Amino acid sequence: MARETCSNPKRIPDELLNCLSEASKVVVLTGAGVSAESGIPTFREAHTGLWARYDPMELASPEAFERDPSTVWAWYQWRRELIARTQPNPGHHALAELQHLVTELVTITQNVDGFHALAGSDDVLELHGNIHRNICSRTARQIEADWLERHDGHQPPPSPHHRQGLARPDVVWFGEALDAATIEKAFSAAESCDVVITAGTSGAVQPAASIPVAAVRAGAVMIDINPEPNELSRFARWHLAGPSATWLPALVEALDRRPA
Ligand code: OAD
Repeated sequence: MARETCSNPKRIPDELLNCLSEASKVVVLTGAGVSAESGIPTFREAHTGLWARYDPMELASPEAFERDPSTVWAWYQWRRELIARTQPNPGHHALAELQHLVTELVTITQNVDGFHALAGSDDVLELHGNIHRNICSRTARQIEADWLERHDGHQPPPSPHHRQGLARPDVVWFGEALDAATIEKAFSAAESCDVVITAGTSGAVQPAASIPVAAVRAGAVMIDINPEPNELSRFARWHLAGPSATWLPALVEALDRRPA
């Protein structure tokens, strides 16, 4: 079916609202655009995106950490501080509300900021990890916060689990595999949902970008929320053109207003 572009959040098609309210399962895949309005830069946008300013292979790869652990640690500390100064925006809060308005909602995110859970979303699959946690660079075992506090002067702190290990953020770097159980749950949710919403993602990174495509191939309808259409949008039945912090609250409000 042809894609319909909607540009007025006050005029959401009835058919779209029907799909959401009749769905037995809704899956949402979010990307950096959902946190953009909290003040966290995205990755691929020209000029403002992190990867326009920094080389990911120098900052977000196991080789970079091996070569220069202090620089990589400092970059993640900078991002952690940036996230700590910001908070979830109306888009995150709307997704937390959406779970009370549809039968079942599974939120899958590529973001590592932890904002969906902070806003109150329950069932969140964090595909690329969580920047607030740390693991041992040799064993991948979790490192507790009190250990890190006690070794605060070190950049990065040593690992309690391995003599040559160092603390590193529990995020997926370029060249690393995603957690198998998390990715399996994500595809299984996608393949059994009726509606898939993509919000604030360029669809440029695999395997995340294949999740909504798998949903559509299994029969789901897709709603894409993004100011710009991209590779993923061609799978969408509706492209909601604009920021997610506007469209997600508008969807929730329109669903909430409907007679039961
Ligand atoms: P990208 O930076 O690739 O894409 C961000 C998307 O958000 C773009 O399509 C923008 O048009 C859109 N966007 C910008 N502002 C928006 C807003 N206010 N509302 C809605 N959309 C908006 O980010 P991701 O697709 O999340 O991986 O990138 C995926 C992965 O690439 C990241 O998780 C990260 C990165 O390398 C790892 O670090 C493993």
